Amino acid sequence: MSSPFHDPFRLDGKTVLVTGASSGIGQAIAVQAALAGAQLVLSGRDTARLEAVHASLAGSGHRCLAADLTDTAQIQTLADAVGAVDGVVHSAGVDGVAPMRMLNAKMLDRVLQTNYYAPMLLTQRQLARQWIRPGGSVLLLASIAALTGKVGVGPYSGSKSALIGSMRCLALEVAKRGIRVNALCPGLVETPLLNMHRDLLENADKAYPLGLGQPEDIAYAAIYFLSDASRKVTGTTFSLDGGIPFT
Ligand SMILES: NC(=O)c1ccc[n+]([C@@H]2O[C@H](COP(=O)([O-])OP(=O)(O)OC[C@H]3O[C@@H](n4cnc5c(N)ncnc54)[C@H](OP(=O)(O)O)[C@@H]3O)[C@@H](O)[C@H]2O)c1
Repeated sequence: MSSPFHDPFRLDGKTVLVTGASSGIGQAIAVQAALAGAQLVLSGRDTARLEAVHASLAGSGHRCLAADLTDTAQIQTLADAVGAVDGVVHSAGVDGVAPMRMLNAKMLDRVLQTNYYAPMLLTQRQLARQWIRPGGSVLLLASIAALTGKVGVGPYSGSKSALIGSMRCLALEVAKRGIRVNALCPGLVETPLLNMHRDLLENADKAYPLGLGQPEDIAYAAIYFLSDASRKVTGTTFSLDGGIPFT
């Protein structure tokens, strides 16, 4: 008699926290993770949009916990309220588009607080309280902007490069607990974040041999990294760049 098929990409029995779940890529990851069997904890600032995403999820037992991740106290409260998890997706992020000559400390603070400090401080709290279970997966939303240069994107690129640098160290530190840490590096993905910068879209269709990304494209990769199918994969950056050639 053949044994029942075990699908290593399923997330049944796993609890997954997704930050930035109220929009774009985070929303798509939450929707796909629920379809794959996970119980979701959705976080963001906009409670109405969070509730709408919650209502759209397959399965039951999902939760919404609003938090502003620029506030360290709220990061800690969020971690404590979520409790033990098997996966964390750090999708909350902001743009940081300005030529370097126009940069100022206030803008740099805003970008780094959300894109870098928040995932680091949330992870710190979860590790200190042992709330990421053995076999758990931490997934950081970086960007191809961290891997290549583009005029006017310096603050954003810097925040994502910092994320990748720390990710590699973190992956080594938590491997002994059986926890994996990886980063996704999407190219341009059609979400509200990108819609704020239509200028970036000029000729983008031509630049991307496979076309611009959709949020679901990133979500499918996230399912792999959250699942046991990637149980021996850690410290990596995975590009979802539509084949855009780097120079
Ligand atoms: N779109 C792209 O082309 C692209 C490409 C590469 C990488 N990425 C990265 O992918 C991630 C998701 O981007 P997206 O395009 O999906 O953006 P999005 O649609 O604008 O969504 C951003 C999410 O971040 C949350 N957020 C922002 N500031 C926050 C704060 N202070 N506290 C808590 N939550 C906060 C928002 O929640 P509320 O609105 O509820 O506050 C929202 O859910 C980001 O890290 C981004 O850098 C995007």
